[in-house]
Amino acid sequence: MDNLEALVTQRESKNIPEHIAIIMDGNGRWAQLQGKGRVAGHKAGVESVRAVVASARKSKVKALTLFAFSSENWQRPAKEVSVLMDLFMYVLTKEVKRLHKHNIRFQVVGDLSRFSDKLQKNIAKSELLTAKNTGLVLSIAANYGGRWDITQAAKKLASDVKQGIMSLADINETTLNEQTCLANLPTLDLLIRTGGDCRISNFLLWQAAYAELYFTDTLWPDFNEIQFEKAINCFDQRERRFGKTGEQARNEQVE
Ligand code: IPE
Ligand code: IPE
Ligand code: MG
Repeated sequence: MDNLEALVTQRESKNIPEHIAIIMDGNGRWAQLQGKGRVAGHKAGVESVRAVVASARKSKVKALTLFAFSSENWQRPAKEVSVLMDLFMYVLTKEVKRLHKHNIRFQVVGDLSRFSDKLQKNIAKSELLTAKNTGLVLSIAANYGGRWDITQAAKKLASDVKQGIMSLADINETTLNEQTCLANLPTLDLLIRTGGDCRISNFLLWQAAYAELYFTDTLWPDFNEIQFEKAINCFDQRERRFGKTGEQARNEQVE
């Protein structure tokens, strides 16, 4: 079933994930298959970002989190890193007004201190512009690493204890979660990875604890609304048990 209309039928009766995250992988291989340089793949990937943002809005997904640049991606050739930064800057400047028009709240999560002042300022400006929007929350993970996220949360708690703002006994899963990057969003329901590899690559380690994982061979620039709806349909078929028995989970759904 590859027809978009057929895939979206009865969207209302479907179990739509509240929070979807995507590891947008496969740009380089897509470009190589076309006989082009890797950069062409990153540029083509921007169109897929537009498509999934539009789809997420239509499906009334509350939060969409996209992995754009990992803390490990600095190890790539300097030229590729620099093109990715330029592309990020270009997309920010060009697309944010459109996001704002659609009531989307935009934020960038990750260690932003390593980015240029210009890029940091542009990010802050875009976040401020859309801060009061009440529709989809679009988070871009840039210089993000799951281990970094957990470490910075632990550091914040340690500092609060040291300053006497909280006690050691107050440290628990809830208070640690509150210090992680996406604490203000619904729990992550669905984690998609394109590009055929079945790994998390240091993305949302804490947040993915009970997320449904969806891996597809489709390379990111080929990922579109149809592919996105397929992932949502697959999620709809999953039985989420959260440690309970299947019978318990099904009874809870009926209640
Ligand atoms: C993902 O595509 C984009 C980033 C990591 C920035 P890749 O650039 O990793 O593409 P492949 O995996 O080499 O094909
Ligand atoms: C993960 O892709 C990071 C992003 C999509 C931004 P990578 O291409 O960096 O992951 P690995 O290196 O194959 O694990
Ligand atoms: Mg890759």
